[in-house]
Amino acid sequence: MNHCLCTAGVHKYLHGRTRNAISTLTIGDNLPDMLSFYDRASYYNLHDSRNTTMAKLYGGRWRVVSGDLGEGGQSVILRVVDDYGEYNGEFALKRIRNPWRHQRFQNEITAIKRLEHPNIIKLIDHSALDDVNSNNDKQFLVMPIAEGKDLGKPSRYKLYSGALDSVLLVSITIAKALQVAHLANVIHRDIKPENILFTGDGHDLWIADFGICLLREQPRNTPDGEVVGPQNYMAPELEAGGNLEVTPAADIYSLGKVIYFMISGGIVIPRERLHEKRYSAILSAGEKTRRTGILLSQMICLAEPSCS
Ligand SMILES: Nc1ncnc2c1ncn2[C@@H]1O[C@H](COP(=O)(O)OP(=O)(O)O)[C@@H](O)[C@H]1O
Ligand SMILES: [Mg+2]
Repeated sequence: MNHCLCTAGVHKYLHGRTRNAISTLTIGDNLPDMLSFYDRASYYNLHDSRNTTMAKLYGGRWRVVSGDLGEGGQSVILRVVDDYGEYNGEFALKRIRNPWRHQRFQNEITAIKRLEHPNIIKLIDHSALDDVNSNNDKQFLVMPIAEGKDLGKPSRYKLYSGALDSVLLVSITIAKALQVAHLANVIHRDIKPENILFTGDGHDLWIADFGICLLREQPRNTPDGEVVGPQNYMAPELEAGGNLEVTPAADIYSLGKVIYFMISGGIVIPRERLHEKRYSAILSAGEKTRRTGILLSQMICLAEPSCS
């Protein structure tokens, strides 16, 4: 294992933001989750007409085989095959549920297209982008299936509990892919275990779900005051909603919490609202685990001067 994360400043990221995010909290704090506006909107859209999506043909060619792949706050993921026969095998079709999120859907397509990288989900096909209407069945994208499931599933994250070398490998892979995104002006803003997908053999991963990404060259899509980010993985600067300057550091912060989630065998550090007493108390306690220390010491670049 090469311990030097020299490539394009990954080391700098991990040494800075990640260290802050994962080293200062107490393991196992079971503080209540609090839903942001975004989370609540997602929840209420979750249980819509899922059953009616079966037996449909998307884009005139993608035939639904089953609906077993998963769902998120904004979408349902269906297993499909290509009736045209251009692509062999099964694929994952993401059907977007909220027509009013059309701009975000466009951003997701733009981001994935822009980021050609082995560890970023690939785009096979998508619906028309200029089709703004009330029929959200028309908004879909097609990607390869991650048969290895997402990192949020116990069958996946339990593999990493205490397995430092594996955690390190996954963390470096995510960090490098994120850096490619950041250099291309894409901030993911939703880094969490459920958005890290694994191939069938589990040897490779994709960062997926660019549904709330920020394309830095574009005006913000976030309505004033809306908080956008993963509930428990959100960087504190995202707490204030749409008006703050968001930088790549927000993704690195979330990655830090994902790393903690892996090495701890699934402990989710609750969202830190820095202004709340109970959180500031935890943060000021500065506790960290031995494992986290070991992991970080492996991440910090010691070997080559070119790393700085
Ligand atoms: N390509 C895929 N292959 C297999 N499962 C997937 C794939 N994409 C997404 N999923 C599953 O569906 C869930 C929701 O997908 P996601 O793109 O994150 O939607 P949302 O934007 O609604 O969160 C993921 O957490 C994962 O479990
Ligand atoms: Mg998701």
